[in-house]
Amino acid sequence: MENFIAYNPVTLHFGKNILTTLGPTLKEYGNRVLLVYGKGSVKKSGLYDRIMDGLKLQGFEVSEYGGIKSNPVIEDVDAAAAIGREHQSDVILAVGGGSVIDSSKIISVTIPVENSGWDFFTGKINAAKAIPVVAVLTLAATGTEMNPFAVVSNHALGQKSAYGSPLTFPKHSFLDPGLTLTVPRDYTAYGVADLIAHCFEAWFGIGETTLTDRFVISIVKEAMEYGPKLLADLQNYEYREKIMFAATMALNGMTMYGRSTGDWGVHSAGHCLSLLYDVPHGASLTIVYPAWMRHFKTQAGHRIVQLGSGLFDETLTADETIDRIEAFFKSLGCPIRLSDLKIPGDPGQPLFESMVHNKVNGGNLKMKEEDYRALIGLYL
Ligand code: NZQ
Ligand code: ZN
Repeated sequence: MENFIAYNPVTLHFGKNILTTLGPTLKEYGNRVLLVYGKGSVKKSGLYDRIMDGLKLQGFEVSEYGGIKSNPVIEDVDAAAAIGREHQSDVILAVGGGSVIDSSKIISVTIPVENSGWDFFTGKINAAKAIPVVAVLTLAATGTEMNPFAVVSNHALGQKSAYGSPLTFPKHSFLDPGLTLTVPRDYTAYGVADLIAHCFEAWFGIGETTLTDRFVISIVKEAMEYGPKLLADLQNYEYREKIMFAATMALNGMTMYGRSTGDWGVHSAGHCLSLLYDVPHGASLTIVYPAWMRHFKTQAGHRIVQLGSGLFDETLTADETIDRIEAFFKSLGCPIRLSDLKIPGDPGQPLFESMVHNKVNGGNLKMKEEDYRALIGLYL
């Protein structure tokens, strides 16, 4: 086992109708709220009106920034930070999926400085002060609600990068599984895939830790059992609840106890697909993961076999394990080859260049340019 520090300061509010305490929670931080949301799902579902009416009734001053796109971009972060600065926001209320919450984390550290939020990603500056973020999660997938990470794209520079600091944890996250009932089938499936991929990234990291391995296997088994049930019954609250809980646990630190790093090479490679072709995050992972395991099956063969017996309760070879995992992703309706997405032209070379430019790599299994070519060849 590797030495580790466990730290997670997020207060998680989980369950049916949990939003009743949202107002008093926001009041802890002040009266001026910057409400951040996405492209329109919150308006369509009625959540926007519910929250806005509640905030006004409770005497909050609300400014807002809507329109954060999936695979969020730095321009929106900077524009929202300017609004927060102008209105001297006391607290950011992020209502949406990972894209909205990630953007809000960077908005929170950008408001107190004159820089672009991108300067955090390049390492030009580090977070010294943050406006508190309170999140209302509407999509189970990323785990952002209980971690400090934020992933944002800068298309002008051709980069999709991650940033995290002890200051970028949300202060509170509200998780009502009922708010995810409107998530369409495709994004529900991508969420299940994403949470499984987070477990795999931890699994292929550095550090032998049997207890944490059991956490990982349990979370993935939960997702493999209830993910398909949910996809067959999207209005089922109980299945929504199980997947939401699993997604939060998959990336809140507990799968990393006793490990010095996860791998994250698949995420790193997947970000290039999202950057170039706006592939939804979870879909990028179902394309890259089977290819990555095939590519590294010699170096990581032992761990792939262990994963197979843990997940499927029988002795499988590495190849059989990979085939089963790929078949599972396919059964969710997720793409498993880039060709499934029917991208025009030949994406191979642009992807290779993007991987070089973004210095795609794993924390454990290192990748060089020849690995990029092999990997792309396996998933095109
Ligand atoms: O924009 P709106 O209209 O809100 O629609 C969104 C969007 O189109 C929609 N949606 C969200 N909640 C909904 C809903 N539609 C109906 N009903 C609801 N209740 O779903 C679409 C996808 O939303 P998005 O927030 O983009 O999805 P997700 O939560 O998967 O977030 C993806 C982003 O998170 C990053 C990804 O790279 C990607 O940029 N990640 C963040 C991580 C973290 N912070 O720890 C880790 C992950 O590995 C990941 O990299
Ligand atoms: Zn992910």
